[in-house]
Amino acid sequence: MKLAWAVMWLLSLLALAACGSGHDPEPGDAARGQQLFMSENLGGNGSGPSCLSCHSVTLGEPPSIGPNLSNVGARAASTVPGMPAEAYLRAAIVEPDTYLAEGYQEGIHPRDYGQILSASQINDLVAYLRTLHSGVN
Ligand code: HEC
Repeated sequence: MKLAWAVMWLLSLLALAACGSGHDPEPGDAARGQQLFMSENLGGNGSGPSCLSCHSVTLGEPPSIGPNLSNVGARAASTVPGMPAEAYLRAAIVEPDTYLAEGYQEGIHPRDYGQILSASQINDLVAYLRTLHSGVN
């Protein structure tokens, strides 16, 4: 009998651990995400352009190398039909070629953010992008 309880206890621990691993990401911190967005040292090795160097987040500024993101938090929910904003923004960062923004070519957005950024850094960036609601795409 005792053994059965021990086994159940272990199984519940395992189930909890499985939930914690990646699938259900922690909510990110938008303020940290904003700092990361502007950082020239995203990968921690002193190199790499900031997100801001390719993306304006200011309403009315023309798109530069990448789209203006001042309203991306609003449009992200309807960019890919059926895909929630969070998932779309995450994909736009880590697998940019999968859902190319309209009018842009693949191969410009860096492809390695999934490797150089930690899961919590990506969550922070997504949380920041979700705050961007200028109202004008
Ligand atoms: C070298 C320039 C460049 C850098 C650096 C860059 N991007 Fe991009 N980004 C692009 C281009 C070009 C596109 C449009 C093509 C595409 O969708 O991949 C894009 C698309 C996006 C989109 C989708 C926009 C939309 O309108 O749906 C998001 C979100 C985004 N980038 C976020 C980021 C974040 C966050 C970073 C920093 C971690 C970053 N980008 C760094 C060039 C860049």
